[in-house]
Amino acid sequence: MFQPVLLANIDKPNSYTLKVYESTGGYSALKKTLREMKPVDVVEMVKSSGLRGRGGAGFPCGLKWSFLPKDHPGPIYMCINADESEPGTFNNRVLMELDPHQVIEGIIIGSYATRASTAYIYVRYEFPLSYERLQAAIDECYAAGYLGKNILGTEFSLDVFLHRGAAAYICGEETGLIESLEGKRAWPRIKPPFPAVEGAFRKPTVVNNIETMACVTQIARRGADWFKSIGVPADPKNPRDAGSYGPKLYCLSGHVNKPGCYEAPLGITCRQLIDEYGGGVWKGRKAKAVVPGGISMGFLSANELDTTLDFEGPGKVGCLGLGTAAVVVIDDQTSMVDVLYNCCRFMSHESCGQCTPCREGTSWSTKILERIRSGRGKMEDIDLLLEVANSMGIIPGTTICGLSDGAAWPVKNAINKFRPEFEEYIRSGRKSVTPAQELMMAH
Ligand SMILES: Cc1cc2nc3c(=O)[nH]c(=O)nc-3n(C[C@H](O)[C@H](O)[C@H](O)COP(=O)(O)O)c2cc1C
Ligand code: SF4
Repeated sequence: MFQPVLLANIDKPNSYTLKVYESTGGYSALKKTLREMKPVDVVEMVKSSGLRGRGGAGFPCGLKWSFLPKDHPGPIYMCINADESEPGTFNNRVLMELDPHQVIEGIIIGSYATRASTAYIYVRYEFPLSYERLQAAIDECYAAGYLGKNILGTEFSLDVFLHRGAAAYICGEETGLIESLEGKRAWPRIKPPFPAVEGAFRKPTVVNNIETMACVTQIARRGADWFKSIGVPADPKNPRDAGSYGPKLYCLSGHVNKPGCYEAPLGITCRQLIDEYGGGVWKGRKAKAVVPGGISMGFLSANELDTTLDFEGPGKVGCLGLGTAAVVVIDDQTSMVDVLYNCCRFMSHESCGQCTPCREGTSWSTKILERIRSGRGKMEDIDLLLEVANSMGIIPGTTICGLSDGAAWPVKNAINKFRPEFEEYIRSGRKSVTPAQELMMAH
């Protein structure tokens, strides 16, 4: 089994303190970077490592940094996305609670590379321990000279602030996050301009995920070649494949014997993750479906479990992508109608409402599924759900942000891969709702 790197320290007593972090080589990479490298060299190092963002979209990290305007007088901001809003995802929380210094070291190195003078960490409100541990770690850094003015005696200065989010899914979308940080409702912005050009407070801004920052620390410590030696190389026949390099934190949950946050090389198969790390499907049952990377990525069917969980794998079997690598196992006793209803209800609740296809589409999908679950579904409802799903999202070009693509994909995959189950459900007139729920739905 892969020897953990990102999670190497989490089982040590007081792993979240500066003392323990420094005893394992912590901040040596920062010292080396500030003393021996120019910001542009750090950007090149991250580019050549092949690191792709871990927040969901998988955008190449160094390339994103290089989009910042070159001679901007500043300020430039770094926003670290710790909203962790995708259902089933909890790897950011593990890092923030148990190894916050690994994340902060990456933030300082990333800010140096991008010439950011202020970094904000946007933390989900429901993570009080993450907030507490990060703040304590930031305080320790100021006291040790790793943050503040003239860090380690160099010209480089950086302040880091924590900002508690109000706990909505849309606050994780990078421009929704920026709006929220500015004190407004988290309504995603129309792009362009992208944050690198006009972000927080209308200044150039980089938004990166917590796990991405932990990877930056390890790249600075162990080198770009080390990072690139792990994972799945880019397919030379596919010019759009940027490769899937480095270790990845997989969040395994649902109907599995040993749920947890596991570190493995990108490219492990879904079956390996469930069987070798998760101890197999619970209660001796079989998997009917698996969410490969948060519900917005859709579903793998039971015969797609050998799909590799890298940036390319899930897309090859019709899913949206790897997303956050939050793998949720659904056993063969569970109704896909009920699973899909939960997904749609979540997306409808979380849609910010700016775009009609998303606001109406997520709401109507939920209502159609409520009708099916109350025993009054019609066969036409199945195609109606598909029609609604096919008409919303950035991919069909009808919405501002990707929430609605993430709302559409579970519908498309559930119906395309499990259609007979939906037909049988409607044909049998089966009901999943209680009379009380039915009464609520009528109002
Ligand atoms: C609806 C929605 C929710 C998102 N939630 C998160 C989140 O909670 N955390 C995160 O890092 N990225 C989230 N993202 C992706 C961010 O917009 C952005 O791509 C990411 O923070 C960039 O960081 P990375 O390049 O390091 O992955 C979300 C995107 C969408 C469309
Ligand atoms: S796609 Fe949905 S969540 Fe995103 S901006 Fe439009 S309405 Fe809001």
